[in-house]
Amino acid sequence: MLVPTRWWHIATIAALEPSVFTADPWSAELFWSELAQGDQRCYLTALSRPHGRPAHDLDAIVGYAGLAIGDDGAYIQTVGVVPAMWGRGVGARLMIALLRRARQAGARSCGLEVRTDNHAARVLYSRLGFVDIGLRRGYYQPSGGDAYVMRARPIDTVGYATLLDDAEQALPGRVRLEE
Ligand SMILES: CC(C)(COP(=O)(O)OP(=O)(O)OC[C@H]1O[C@@H](n2cnc3c(N)ncnc32)[C@H](O)[C@@H]1OP(=O)(O)O)[C@@H](O)C(=O)NCCC(=O)NCCS
Repeated sequence: MLVPTRWWHIATIAALEPSVFTADPWSAELFWSELAQGDQRCYLTALSRPHGRPAHDLDAIVGYAGLAIGDDGAYIQTVGVVPAMWGRGVGARLMIALLRRARQAGARSCGLEVRTDNHAARVLYSRLGFVDIGLRRGYYQPSGGDAYVMRARPIDTVGYATLLDDAEQALPGRVRLEE
C-alpha cells in the first residue's frame, strides 16, 4: 500500500535510511525540509500490511520515494526500499505512482540522478523509459560518487501512460494509493 508521506513517517524513514543508502544517507532534517515544500513535492511511503493484520498501526514502512515538481519538469528526489524487500516490485510501484503524479501535474519530462554503479536502479529506470543524458562526476557527497543523469521524455503522452500501465501490469498484485 502506498500512502502520502507525512511528518509522522519521517523518524522511521530516517532510521531506515542508512541501511537503504549505505553511502550518503539523508538526515531527518532533509526529509523535513522536503515535506515543507508543500505542493512542489510529492512523497510516498510504501507500507507492508502483515498478512491477516488489517490494523493501520501495524503497517511497517518498507519503502519511500519523492518527486519534485517544477516549471521545467519533474524530478525524482529519492527512492529507497528496505533491503529485505528488494526485488518484489516495491521500487517499481513507487516510481510508477510518482510518474503518474508528475503527469497529473502537467510535467512533460522527469529527471533523476543515479550512481553509475547502481545496476538495480538503472534497470528499473530504463524499464520506465529513462535514458542517460549526462554524467556528473563527484555528484554524491560526501562519498564523491559519480552519477548518471537520466531523463524520461515525453511523459505527457498516451504512449507513456501505456508504458506505466504495462509496467504495473507486469508486477505481482495491485497498488492502492490512499489519500
Ligand atoms: C533501487 C531500488 C529502489 C529498487 O527497489 P526494488 O523494490 O528492489 O525494485 P523492484 O523490485 O521493482 O526491482 C527493480 C529491479 O531492480 C533489480 N533488483 C531488485 N532486487 C535486486 C537485488 N537484490 N539484486 C540485484 N538486483 C536487484 C532487478 O533488476 C529489478 O528488475 P527486474 O524485476 O526486471 O529483475 C532498491 O534496490 C533500493 O532501495 N536500493 C538502495 C537505494 C537506491 O539505490 N535507490 C536508488 C537511488 S537512485
